[in-house]
Amino acid sequence: MNILGIETSCDDTAAAVICDGKIIKSNVVASQKEMHKKYGGIIPEVSSREHFLNFLPVIEEAVTQAGITYRDLDGIAVTNGPGLAGALLVGVNSAKGLAMAWDKPLIGINHLEGHIYSAWLENDELGKAYGFPMICLIASGGHTDLVVMKDHLEYETIGRTVDDAAGEAFDKAARILGLGFPGGPEIQKMSENASGLVPKLPRPTVKNSLSFSFSGLKSALARRAESEGFYSNGIPSNPTDIQVREYSAEFQEAVVDCLVKNTLAAVEEFNAVAIVLGGGVAANSRLRIRMNSDSTVPVIIPAPRLCTDNGAMIGAAAYYRFRDGYSQEWDMDAIPNLKL
Ligand code: KG4
Ligand code: ZN
Repeated sequence: MNILGIETSCDDTAAAVICDGKIIKSNVVASQKEMHKKYGGIIPEVSSREHFLNFLPVIEEAVTQAGITYRDLDGIAVTNGPGLAGALLVGVNSAKGLAMAWDKPLIGINHLEGHIYSAWLENDELGKAYGFPMICLIASGGHTDLVVMKDHLEYETIGRTVDDAAGEAFDKAARILGLGFPGGPEIQKMSENASGLVPKLPRPTVKNSLSFSFSGLKSALARRAESEGFYSNGIPSNPTDIQVREYSAEFQEAVVDCLVKNTLAAVEEFNAVAIVLGGGVAANSRLRIRMNSDSTVPVIIPAPRLCTDNGAMIGAAAYYRFRDGYSQEWDMDAIPNLKL
């Protein structure tokens, strides 16, 4: 079964052709990161316009690279939430147009379900080998959710951030340290040769819960930067290379500590047989190392290029939905706050 997976929920226009939920025949991503860099974050209107311009070229490239024609497609899947309203609308309406013109079944996929199903790409034995339940940590620019996956397509959200998402925290910390956007990869790079020279930042918790809180950690970094004189009135003022390196590493370690602690507590509480990581923050090398070393159950982490937003994950999730007989009405809509 060949599915065209389409993703436009944030700042990447992406399309992929996925066979049987696991084989990546093509995976094309047109990133807007360079465009948003100069604003230090994502401007929704700019994002919608870019999706509109990139949509057809990206679809065409995905189908061509897969070595097929549209006639060989068995279905089309598109992210219909959660995400930026305008960005989702471009994807959903354009996908409807394609499905109508090409006479293909269409399905809307939850972006978070897509991040989870990245783990099945090039790895279809996953569910069979470990069974269920699994604990999924989805950590991205917009979400930090802990989910129990009880079976294919069956989820219960057991924890989430009560303020900033982990990726958002990385992006804000990077701004404090005078680094570029997106912040996660910059902070990871800067952390590489740190020596643990600065006092620890806090590891915020949410009492009696598996939820996360990152805004206090970001504020603690800002207060520390102010007291050391390299951040004032919301603007970084010439931090030294050592300050950037050491605070990047300490901030990263604090975020990773919070993510690992709650994920392992969830494994214990729900007797999970494996952990699945997804979302842009799952590309973080320190998180990948720590989750693997601290967990007593297998940890499945997609390749970094499949952790950040892509169309392949949407095609993978759609395979399981089509297989179980799901289909969509033409009135399927973009839902910016869609829940898992
Ligand atoms: O999943 P994603 O591509 O888009 C959303 O759905 O939000 O995640 C983007 C987020 C950004 O906040 C970015 O800073 C973060 O993921 N990110 C990382 C890394 N790569 C991307 N955070 C930490 N370390 C990384 N290597
Ligand atoms: Zn995402």
